[in-house]
Amino acid sequence: MAMAKIIPLLLVLVPIRMAAARTDCPNVPLLGAVAACQKACGTKLMYDLCIRMMRQGGADMSPSHKERATAYAILAAHSAANSFDDTKLAASNQLSHNSSLSGKQRDAYEGCMNDYAPADSSIDRIADETLPSCRFTGLADEYTRVINSVEKCRDRLLTPTLVKTPLYPMVVADRNKAVLANMLGKLLGI
Ligand SMILES: *[C@@H]1O[C@H](CO)[C@@H](O)[C@H](O)[C@H]1NC(C)=O
Repeated sequence: MAMAKIIPLLLVLVPIRMAAARTDCPNVPLLGAVAACQKACGTKLMYDLCIRMMRQGGADMSPSHKERATAYAILAAHSAANSFDDTKLAASNQLSHNSSLSGKQRDAYEGCMNDYAPADSSIDRIADETLPSCRFTGLADEYTRVINSVEKCRDRLLTPTLVKTPLYPMVVADRNKAVLANMLGKLLGI
């Protein structure tokens, strides 16, 4: 029953189109999706996540197809943003419909909703403004703000009981997506 409310939310993930494929910032490398993942990711965990995210986001995976690195960074930021939205929805559903949440759980979930607010606004700004406009000033700090905010929520859940809540794995996944978005962002030379 614990996952009953959570799983349907994961299914609403809409594939992200390569809407930003036309983004053509000067001095940004042109490369294939697989090459972008290889270049950005230092671990197999991150590489596999990167490939999955590219596929889910509708990136053309063929070796001959190349995009500006900006397009991949935008795709990753949108993917992270969608994932954050699912997590927030899961947390708010629990808060409003689950009367068996303990006081500690309630506090942690509410804390996480607050932590996610700056993560959300920063990732949206990255995806919708900073990257598409090719003005990368402050971008590194913005990624850091996203990651730190999600990690703040993750750290709230690091107690023997709260790690077992359905929210915890969602937050860990969000954190990895935020880190991946940042790694792909680094291909822009920020
Ligand atoms: C409500 O919260 C309790 C305590 O975390 C959990 O065990 C239960 O699975 C939750 N119910 C639903 C429907 O998510």
